[in-house]
Amino acid sequence: MEKIVTLCKTRGFIFPGSDIYGGLANSWDYGPLGVELKNNIKQAWWKKFVSSRLDMVGIDAALIMNPKVWEASGHVATFSDPLVECKQCHERYRADQIDLKQACQKCGHQDTFTEPAAFNMMLRTWLGPKQDATAEAYLRPETAQAMFVDFDQVLLTSRKRVPFGIAQCGKAFRNEITPGNFIFRQREFELMEFEYFVHPSEWEKHFEYWLKQMHEWIAECGIDAARVHELEVPAEERAHYSKRTVDFEFDFPFGRKELYGLAYRTDFDLNKHAEHSGARLDYTDPVTKEKYVPHVVEPAFGVDRTLLAVLASAYHEEEVEGETRVVMKFPKHLAPTKIAVLPLSKKDELSKLAEPLARQLATRWRTEYDETQSIGKRYRRQDEIGTPFCVTVDFETLEDQAVTVRDRDSMKQARVPLAELEDYLAKQLGC
Ligand code: GAP
Repeated sequence: MEKIVTLCKTRGFIFPGSDIYGGLANSWDYGPLGVELKNNIKQAWWKKFVSSRLDMVGIDAALIMNPKVWEASGHVATFSDPLVECKQCHERYRADQIDLKQACQKCGHQDTFTEPAAFNMMLRTWLGPKQDATAEAYLRPETAQAMFVDFDQVLLTSRKRVPFGIAQCGKAFRNEITPGNFIFRQREFELMEFEYFVHPSEWEKHFEYWLKQMHEWIAECGIDAARVHELEVPAEERAHYSKRTVDFEFDFPFGRKELYGLAYRTDFDLNKHAEHSGARLDYTDPVTKEKYVPHVVEPAFGVDRTLLAVLASAYHEEEVEGETRVVMKFPKHLAPTKIAVLPLSKKDELSKLAEPLARQLATRWRTEYDETQSIGKRYRRQDEIGTPFCVTVDFETLEDQAVTVRDRDSMKQARVPLAELEDYLAKQLGC
């Protein structure tokens, strides 16, 4: 884990947030490579689950919703974790994450914890100049509720028929008692999720279908399948809205933890919003004329946890000529930089050819241009950031109008004529 965190910091994937002010505990900023990787993950997800399907549409809703939404959804009453406090040093812990019979990890006192109390995890704020109960609002703890609240408008405007889904990708906020493990548990994170509306009699069929699709997505991200495990969540541990939940757990370097969740939310949310708002949130089948409240199957994916599992799966160390080569074997479509153009030396005659070439390639793929340090060191840097192809312009290029293309994984080199370079790279990159 330390190696991944260090690589993320030194290569510009993820930095500690507000660093020059001493940081802010457990806040992280995505740097130039991190934002590319994150965007590639979100784009791949949107393409797979939304834009390439006829039964799916997307929305991008407000982060702050009417507080009545969270009363109706049950989050005000039940979105909580059990909190205990050390009576000696007042350190706070999540009761389900420590052994209450053990000593306090901070001060070492035994038999010291208070009784567990429910701690609501929603982050509060005030809207407008008054800071009282009438102005109170919440930053959304999940993106799902907007898909229920907007259900009728989406149905009307998109003219979809059940079964269909509404997807959203965006920030969520939770006042976690114990954030940590790098970007695994944060108070501000990103979710990709969709609500798939189905006939009540068909939820099991759809649940099984989405379970398989989630595994397919995991494989497409290059996440090591041998480290992924399904967990049937027992009734007493399920969220208040769920009648069945399967968690996808991943063997992170710090242990086996939740990566994703798939929940059968029944008609709980649509019914609650219909009850609390007075709106009709049901569906009439245009063929059979049957009227019913659709049931919901919800696949939920954390963006940051995806990125962490992708990083952990991509990280490889290899022995090459007596030295350790660190290489991030990202799937090509997720790699933050696709191509690096490297003139063999800083000589003018090479830069004059290589720099315009890099500019040209950058119009199609994320490309880096780097002319300093030895070629060996530059290859190593590109390996560490997972760049699939390095294109080297050397003195022979001036004679034969060809370049050397080096493959990240095999380190094999091919001589490719400049006139054929774009076609060659398009074929190799598959995009
Ligand atoms: N709408 C359903 C829902 O929000 P969840 O299991 O509470 O379900 C979904 O969260 C996903 O969000 C998790 O599987 C995980 O990937 C991610 N996640 C949850 N809490 C997180 C946190 N504090 N930091 C980062 N990711 C988190």
